[in-house]
Amino acid sequence: MRVRRCAVLWLEPREVAHFELERLLAGDTGVVSRVQWFAHAPQLSAPVEIDADDAALLGSLSPTDWVPATPLREAHGAARVRNLLQAGLLVGSTKPWAAPRETDERFRGQYWHGLAATLHAASRWDGIDAAGEVEEAGLLTAEGLREAYGAPPPMLHECGDARARVDLPRAQRTALDDLLDARATCRNFDTEKPLPLAQLSQVLERAFAARGMVHGADDFDVLKKASPSGGALHPTECYLIARKVEGLAPGLYHYRPVDHALQPLPLDEAAVLANAGRHADAQGMDALEYLSWIAVGGQQWFADAPVLCVLAPRFVRNYWKYRNHPKAYRVCILDIGHLSQTFLLSATELGLGSYVTAAINEADLERAFGLTHWIDGPLAICGLGPRASTMQTYELDPNRRAWPR
Ligand SMILES: Cc1cc2nc3c(=O)[nH]c(=O)nc-3n(C[C@H](O)[C@H](O)[C@H](O)COP(=O)(O)O)c2cc1C
Repeated sequence: MRVRRCAVLWLEPREVAHFELERLLAGDTGVVSRVQWFAHAPQLSAPVEIDADDAALLGSLSPTDWVPATPLREAHGAARVRNLLQAGLLVGSTKPWAAPRETDERFRGQYWHGLAATLHAASRWDGIDAAGEVEEAGLLTAEGLREAYGAPPPMLHECGDARARVDLPRAQRTALDDLLDARATCRNFDTEKPLPLAQLSQVLERAFAARGMVHGADDFDVLKKASPSGGALHPTECYLIARKVEGLAPGLYHYRPVDHALQPLPLDEAAVLANAGRHADAQGMDALEYLSWIAVGGQQWFADAPVLCVLAPRFVRNYWKYRNHPKAYRVCILDIGHLSQTFLLSATELGLGSYVTAAINEADLERAFGLTHWIDGPLAICGLGPRASTMQTYELDPNRRAWPR
């Protein structure tokens, strides 16, 4: 057999700490820390704990050149080599290792930049009740944040010579100003009122539909949309969790930007509810309710939206052009920023509440929609629905445009 290292690998010397009561009783802090190696391979679902000898072995191998396994086994021990193969950190050339080798090869074919892939994989959440954690830490309010962290960096940035300042004329107000001013992140959805399908359809059309098409070359068509996209490649797909839309069966859907249609997707309740037992707040929720709640990290004020649009780029659509490029992942994220602003303004024009969040449980969403984080993993969610009549959760609307007095 021959082996090589997996395509991308980052070795992290992480300080890990645990508490020992005996040490506390002996008069010290009780906190014992040590440095532990973690191997980040972005095609895996989590980093792998390894020891210093594993790190040395992995660091000596090429990700491209295959070398015979026998000398490695002789030098480092057969068990060590086998463990690294089983973990997916080493790739083997023989039949027993075909499945992880194919994953590694497929990963190579996505043209990720190594550091971007590592960041992408390492920033995923799985079953995190972020809202609960923030509340417990007292960081839900401005006062709580100020108390915990002290004053934030100043609101305004001073630079250059103030005396040389050029005062600019104020623009004439137009309908666009009214629309921009009326947008406010909605944290108060009407939990009784369904969203009419026509309104959902209008927002989807403006945010995600093709508004034209250009034939660039053979087998290379590009879409024109209301938002810009790096390389005109429009890699972002929209998947919907629809719970309460008038005229649409509750369930999961994929939006088709050329047909302007919603394609139903299967709902695997067992996969969706995989983490439900961990959360007391989620007891009694059905699969779609739980998915909405865990999707937005336990933020009930966002889960209440009757529709959640999960935005997930097909990375290789962008990386096909920007191969192994250090900025390509940034471009995918920026694309989503543009799409979400178009979504929010389209919703605002209809008087609907909307939001965007990146505080999402990517792994739960990937299980629900059958996605793979390094192929088409989600980056953000936009929610949509009718606003409630009273504000229970804070919204930033100092000029009372979203919430008339
Ligand atoms: C990328 C992004 C992520 C956000 N994530 C959250 C979130 O997880 N929870 C939340 O309550 N608001 C979230 N927001 C909304 C911001 O808190 C909000 O934009 C900010 O308070 C300003 O208020 P405005 O949108 O009403 O102008 C997010 C906004 C952006 C752009």
